[in-house]
Amino acid sequence: MAGHLAIRTVGIVGAGQMGMGIALTAASRAALPVKVFDKSSQQIEGGLKLVASLLAKDVHKGRISTDESKDVHSRISVVSALDKLKDCDLVVEAAAENLLVKQSIFSALSQICAPSSVLATNTSSISITKIAASVARPEMVVGLHFFNPVPVMKLVELIAGLQTSPSTLSRAQSFAEACGKEVTQSADVPGFVSNALLMPFLNEAIMCLEKGVATKEDIDKTLRLGMAHPMGPLQLADFIGLDTCLAIQQTLHRETGDDKYRPSVLLGRMVDAGWVGRKAGKGFYEY
Ligand code: 3HC
Repeated sequence: MAGHLAIRTVGIVGAGQMGMGIALTAASRAALPVKVFDKSSQQIEGGLKLVASLLAKDVHKGRISTDESKDVHSRISVVSALDKLKDCDLVVEAAAENLLVKQSIFSALSQICAPSSVLATNTSSISITKIAASVARPEMVVGLHFFNPVPVMKLVELIAGLQTSPSTLSRAQSFAEACGKEVTQSADVPGFVSNALLMPFLNEAIMCLEKGVATKEDIDKTLRLGMAHPMGPLQLADFIGLDTCLAIQQTLHRETGDDKYRPSVLLGRMVDAGWVGRKAGKGFYEY
């Protein structure tokens, strides 16, 4: 893409698993300079450690040389304030799955960044149209939904809000493709295609466990060995984070009013207990 529409520098808001995964993928596959902002220094520290360990593994496996690994590393920088993202042509927000948090980030970004910059959100279930409505240039806002672990999963879901311009959509798609991803497009409906399908499936598995239909091991084994899923649904829910699953399911349930999206009682109780999956060391399984 030529001239002022080219994506030359990428900004990331949020240094969690998703944000750092996107940063690493943009810096390695798309060879773009990436600036990462997170208000938590602890989160930044963890994110940088994750990047270093994934690059070290790639060197160890002979996929890249030490010099290439250093180049990728040097393309990722951490910034101390959101306004340091002002020269980014595309910013991907990967902060908490909370509408107010996202609206405040987008409102600030729309004032900080150039009028031509694309403002993308990695939300898994919040309306792109609603996020766009909080900014001065809603036509620049778009959904770019990556999957965890970002460096491994081949898909990015592209979502246009009602206000998203065709140019914003095609620039976001080009960026995702430059990151080596296949792109599918979804309308701005609750959960888009991916989570509208995945969340009732995960919830059904949790309800099977709740009703004592089978053990957690057998529920997961059924899907792994019977349907060739890489992880069983309870393992996958732990991997995504049970708090994230609950937040997505609550959004789907609230926005559609359809009881097929109602989160199971057990999922709510697991989150109440703080047993939110891998990141907490305990979910349906212990880690
Ligand atoms: N970050 C980066 N890479 C990772 C990783 C991470 N967190 N975790 C694993 N990997 C890499 C490993 O390093 C390894 O890479 P290599 O082949 O280059 O060495 C590769 O993934 C395979 O890992 P392992 O050999 O350790 O383990 P598995 O073969 O069991 O694969 C898995 C792990 C890729 C996570 C696989 O189990 C899987 O595909 N699980 C399903 C994941 C999934 O469905 N993700 C989507 C979740 S939904 C989502 O994100 C949307 C949201 O809105 C909810």
